[in-house]
Amino acid sequence: MSTAAVAPLNKDNSPLGDMDEWDEFLEGRYKEGKSKEEFRVYDATATPGVAEFYRLNHENQTLDYVLEKEKTYFSLQKGQKTVWEAAEFLNTLVDDSDPDTDLTQIEHLLQTSEAIRADGHPRWMVLTGFIHDLGKCLCLYGEPQWGVVGDTFPVGCAWSQDIVFPEYFAKNPDRNRPELQTKYGIYEPNCGLENLHMSFGHDGYIAEVMKPYLRDESLYMLRFHSFYPWHRHGAYDHLCNDKDRSMLEWVLKFNQYDLYSKGHTKPDLKELKPYYDDLFAEFLPPTLAW
Ligand SMILES: [Fe+2]
Ligand SMILES: [Fe+2]
Repeated sequence: MSTAAVAPLNKDNSPLGDMDEWDEFLEGRYKEGKSKEEFRVYDATATPGVAEFYRLNHENQTLDYVLEKEKTYFSLQKGQKTVWEAAEFLNTLVDDSDPDTDLTQIEHLLQTSEAIRADGHPRWMVLTGFIHDLGKCLCLYGEPQWGVVGDTFPVGCAWSQDIVFPEYFAKNPDRNRPELQTKYGIYEPNCGLENLHMSFGHDGYIAEVMKPYLRDESLYMLRFHSFYPWHRHGAYDHLCNDKDRSMLEWVLKFNQYDLYSKGHTKPDLKELKPYYDDLFAEFLPPTLAW
């Protein structure tokens, strides 16, 4: 397995020690039993790196930025790769934390998928667990942390107050485009989440890669797994259609595993590989366009 280190990213663009710091923040934010008021207690002094990360995300994710990134990446011009090759590629994303105790990206993916498998869910959902974060390879294409991870939200319409750190939208240039600041903005009422331009990140990208092959439930898990304002807070119902509402339960089912399946036992890749070889072959072609 390749673990060649990539050059450290510009610190201004990378306020998080590594992208897992965002996942850890989410896990703390949605700790079981936390009251709604407690969700609000994530001030900038307690987690300055996370706050700075969201400031960059909220100020830079404009409609024009998203349209440009969709044009670049949704045409899937980054070459052909198998799922294993994509996972190995993501694994080259190493940070300076201790390699003996920290899990690799592949081990994180396997923990999610193995937890889904252990609970007896369908095979397509196990597959979804394994692939859901492969889009984080955007970082290796040079995209900044704030353009790869973070809670997602629609652009081109008013921002919900249920988006974490909403105050950071004050300096987003779309603030000065009144046509993008109304409840519906550029969209029609109940037009469906699939017709929105979501803030750009790893979710939308992996959903585009997998779109020809997987069922809607799986694609919703991929595309909207970081859309916390919707799946956790019920925001943006005015843009949802009946399909979105029926898919919500699957996204929520998946979210449990995304948030809480991370442990410290290393999954045994060698032992698990044959199962995953069969799983990939069942649903996907040998190589995929990325
Ligand atoms: Fe993710
Ligand atoms: Fe994840």
